[in-house]
Amino acid sequence: MSAEIISGTQMRAAILEELRGEVAAIKEKYGTVPGLVTILVGENPASVSYVTLKVKTALDLGFHEIQDNQPEDITEDELLALIEKYNNDPSIHGILVQLPLPKHIDEEKVITAIDPDKDVDGFHPVNLGRMVIGDTKGFLPCTPAGIQEMIVRSGTETSGAEVVVVGRSNIVGKPISIMMGQKGVGANSTVTMVHTRTKDLEAHCKRADILIVAAGVPNLVKPEWIKPGATVIDVGVNRIGTAPSGKALLSGDVEFDKAKEIAGKITPVPGGVGPMTIAMLMKNTVASAWRHLG
Ligand code: GUN
Repeated sequence: MSAEIISGTQMRAAILEELRGEVAAIKEKYGTVPGLVTILVGENPASVSYVTLKVKTALDLGFHEIQDNQPEDITEDELLALIEKYNNDPSIHGILVQLPLPKHIDEEKVITAIDPDKDVDGFHPVNLGRMVIGDTKGFLPCTPAGIQEMIVRSGTETSGAEVVVVGRSNIVGKPISIMMGQKGVGANSTVTMVHTRTKDLEAHCKRADILIVAAGVPNLVKPEWIKPGATVIDVGVNRIGTAPSGKALLSGDVEFDKAKEIAGKITPVPGGVGPMTIAMLMKNTVASAWRHLG
């Protein structure tokens, strides 16, 4: 039987609808709207397209949105000064610096310069620390938050489930592993995090009731590695070519066509985790506005 396809596009639409109501409530109560600044350095085509989508979504929700594009040769000090300006701007509740940054700029320094209470990307070490100790004052990183939201909204049982996470990046693998193992709704799972040095990747994947793949390797996970009925979340976005129209051809980290015949539920690429990341960014910005204004 073919798996249920978990549509991130549909879930994003539902979340944005919920947020629209919150934006209206903030406006009614405080006479203002959530404020987000997106800082883009240079013209990396992938970054430009991600930022364009974030800005469009923020404007569509009625946010106060500043798109602050800076040249590739901006100095680190200039960028830090810009962040400081937005840290001190009361109309801004969320600051996003699109990554990667040019090589002459220290990303860690830039991320830690953002006020943790405006770090709606959830990348600041303070927010990662808050996440580890289960402090809800922090912002969860958007992609892991989106993954967890998809698992919950798809009706997958997480309590006691065997979760296997393939990949150990700071922005996906590590945080989602911690989040799924926490106490609480959409968590309480038994988590194994595997990576390139893991001895028998296949054996681990085969045990997974929930398999989360964030390795950045096209077709890494073979259909026979999937436990029948498992929920499969494919975080990979791999450019595997260009369509005649010029549009990028994308593939996930899982062999989707065959995997969907074995899995119980599976996310597509594109249209899976990607749209959820943006929805979570908007959700964090709304949450930040409530906290700053209240
Ligand atoms: N680059 C790729 N993904 C992201 C993201 O989620 N946030 C930021 N700031 N940069 C990114």
